Amino acid sequence: MNYKLAPLTDHETGAEILGLDLREPVGAELRKALNAEFAKYHVLVFRDQKLTSPEFAHAGEIFGELMSHHHKDVREGHPEVYRVLNEEVAPGKYRINGGSFHTDHSNHPVPPKATALHPVSLPSSGGDTQFVNMHNAYDDLPEATKHRICGVKALHVFESKFSPRKLRPLDEESRKQLPPPTWHPIVRVHPENGRKAIYINPVRIEAVENMTVDEALALVAELLAHATQKKYEYRHKWRYGDLLIWDNRSVLHQANGDYDMKQVRHLHRIMIKGEPVVAAEPEAVAA
Ligand SMILES: [Fe+2]
Repeated sequence: MNYKLAPLTDHETGAEILGLDLREPVGAELRKALNAEFAKYHVLVFRDQKLTSPEFAHAGEIFGELMSHHHKDVREGHPEVYRVLNEEVAPGKYRINGGSFHTDHSNHPVPPKATALHPVSLPSSGGDTQFVNMHNAYDDLPEATKHRICGVKALHVFESKFSPRKLRPLDEESRKQLPPPTWHPIVRVHPENGRKAIYINPVRIEAVENMTVDEALALVAELLAHATQKKYEYRHKWRYGDLLIWDNRSVLHQANGDYDMKQVRHLHRIMIKGEPVVAAEPEAVAA
């Protein structure tokens, strides 16, 4: 295949891909190979791309059909390309989109397979995006915890009243199109690599079945603390020309607000449609 892949960590979380120009047509064989790399590494970084909004949207289609964002008022240059920008919400006060670990749009009944970003303007330093591998985090859980959480569902809403951060408010049109709250398993099975993954989102989970609020919050906090250890992380330092795509079924991600907010951090964002979330079978109790 006419590209070069280099892993970005020693734990199969993130790989960079060199030697492709995503404005060029991508044939069936290359598409299949890239999707296989994606299922293995969960985060791919295509270097040295220079894409207009329509070209970025088209490149995203290597991984599937585009999915609409729930904020309808931030489209930029293409119906499914959205703007990510550090916004001053009050004098000297900024909102960082995605500023705590989450998986995208998990309040949807069929959440996105993937999200991709392509920078327009970057701060001179900082503003990295962090990813943690939820397959590896699941594999390392104590057997008793696996048994406790497999088959258990959590309720995802647009913005949980327990969310660690305030989300950008929805405008009228966006609110009308929001799906009703939805239950998803806490452990899901990846449809392509077959691996189990912890599927949590502290921004959106408002309840866990058969648990009190305190128990539910404690469980999410316990799983988050485990999963966000550095040994599961790939931290992406942005370069112009990156097309970064991640698998929302395999990783959590967060943006960093550790840069001078007077500098513009502006990226284009697309999402790829997923499939209904498949629950992992309950784990057998060890004899
Ligand atoms: Fe996000």
